[in-house]
Amino acid sequence: MTAYPSAAPGQKTFKLNTGAEIPVVGLGTWQSAPGEVARAVESAIKSGYRHIDCAWMYGNENEVGQGIKASGVPREELFITTKVWGTYHRRVEEGLDSSLKALGLDYVDLLLVHWPVPLIVRGDEKIPLNEDGTRAIDKDWSPELTWKEMEKLPATGKVKAIGVSNWSIPKLERLLKDAKIVPAANQVELHPFLPQHDLVSYCQSKGIMPQAYSPLGSSGGPVLEDEKVKAIAKAHDCDPAQVVISWGVQRGVTVLPKSVTPSRIETNGRLVALTKDEMKSLDELHLQDGKHKRLIKPNWGVDLEFPLW
Ligand SMILES: NC(=O)c1ccc[n+]([C@@H]2O[C@H](COP(=O)([O-])OP(=O)(O)OC[C@H]3O[C@@H](n4cnc5c(N)ncnc54)[C@H](OP(=O)(O)O)[C@@H]3O)[C@@H](O)[C@H]2O)c1
Repeated sequence: MTAYPSAAPGQKTFKLNTGAEIPVVGLGTWQSAPGEVARAVESAIKSGYRHIDCAWMYGNENEVGQGIKASGVPREELFITTKVWGTYHRRVEEGLDSSLKALGLDYVDLLLVHWPVPLIVRGDEKIPLNEDGTRAIDKDWSPELTWKEMEKLPATGKVKAIGVSNWSIPKLERLLKDAKIVPAANQVELHPFLPQHDLVSYCQSKGIMPQAYSPLGSSGGPVLEDEKVKAIAKAHDCDPAQVVISWGVQRGVTVLPKSVTPSRIETNGRLVALTKDEMKSLDELHLQDGKHKRLIKPNWGVDLEFPLW
């Protein structure tokens, strides 16, 4: 039997509104290139991660599945999330089936609607465009109708929980008005430059787990270079990435750092205990001039009702 480090990120969990446990840190897989992602997933699971964040859109679920298999860890010990893309909003089960097939799994632990943006279907184009170059939105469909389709999925046994991603407070309010199932999670951009305190509190008050994507500020982002983040890291003799991941977990958020570098994958999973003052200083970092910013802003051409969009 393989021994896993006791401080591994897979050991600590939060509870979802379904009663299931979700490991507080999960490995992100967006932009993890073919030839790299299987090794990243295998190395994460071997270093103790039990949570992998995937999406059909990332185009690498095949390799993610290979990494899961190569880890040798039984399926029931893992928490796997995937997401339904805009072109599948009218046929979410078909989207789920494509992901399951690529991943080589019978079920996922969490299925999210990737964006509240239904897209028209044109062949296998992932982002169909109009003639003028704008994104081709399915205007006869709505995210609330997509949620109705999502609610049918737990009964199939192919998903343990359903949730959303990139939903703002007004969008969540609209969804909750008619929902039979409260989303288990809302995955959004969260880091010290975009803490979204209102959205996190709103989700927590409704039993929706906030999940932090781009927690390090995404590729080449400025968050890890921030002087305050670096000073806190120095005080704990750890990496800046560990500081921002630990800040997320300490505010009750599941955090999804992406890396294909085994040494970073390992350290990203090691949480540090931040003091009350350090938490406050990270909570308030965005208030400094020029810091408050959203880094992931696809040009959907629809109003997502987020501040700073
Ligand atoms: N739901 C959504 O719409 C959505 C949107 C964006 C992201 N996500 C999810 O959230 C995950 C994370 O977000 P992200 O990929 O945008 O960005 P991220 O995790 O904030 O940052 C990833 C970048 O940081 C680097 N990195 C990782 N660990 C580091 C460390 N310890 N020190 C310095 N640099 C480090 C990585 O490089 P290396 O890989 O080269 O090590 C990569 O360039 C995604 O992979 C995806 O699963 C979801």
